[in-house]
Amino acid sequence: MDTKEIKIAYREYTCAAELPEKERELVEAAIEAAKASYAPYSDFNVGAAVRLEDGTIVPGTNQENDAFPSGICAERTAMYAAGARYPDKSIRALALVGGPHHTICDTPATPCGACRQVMAQFQKKAGRPMQIILAGAKKIWVFEKVDDILPLIFTSLDK
Ligand code: THU
Repeated sequence: MDTKEIKIAYREYTCAAELPEKERELVEAAIEAAKASYAPYSDFNVGAAVRLEDGTIVPGTNQENDAFPSGICAERTAMYAAGARYPDKSIRALALVGGPHHTICDTPATPCGACRQVMAQFQKKAGRPMQIILAGAKKIWVFEKVDDILPLIFTSLDK
């Protein structure tokens, strides 16, 4: 028997101004997107933005519903919008911000399991790593690939 460890490396910043320009732009797009969050039930407003291979940025927000399971997270809104509008352009990066009542939490909001699995699918479709940027007001975490936030990632098929 062996005891194994999984190590995850990520960069931490204390504010968006410290980020490399492309990453900062994507965080700013997620912050802008969050203004359109529709979250009358949770009052937790989330904005996401994905950057495509050609630099196009696609926003998304959480969208809630009277029938609770019909709502959807900001990350999936952004990824599915990108997939629907630009099916042949891969997603290279995703930024996320969120907090109660249109604020941004000090520590980053982190994606739910379902969103991580959808990120994994888009990364697989792209055939290259998708960077994930989780931005809080006092901490920003940058992961270079979806695997880093979804260890032992599930994949069923080669395609
Ligand atoms: N939510 C997101 O949009 N993304 C996340 O990463 C976490 C949760 C949304 C779902 C729901 O509308 C609200 O935040 C509270 O869970």
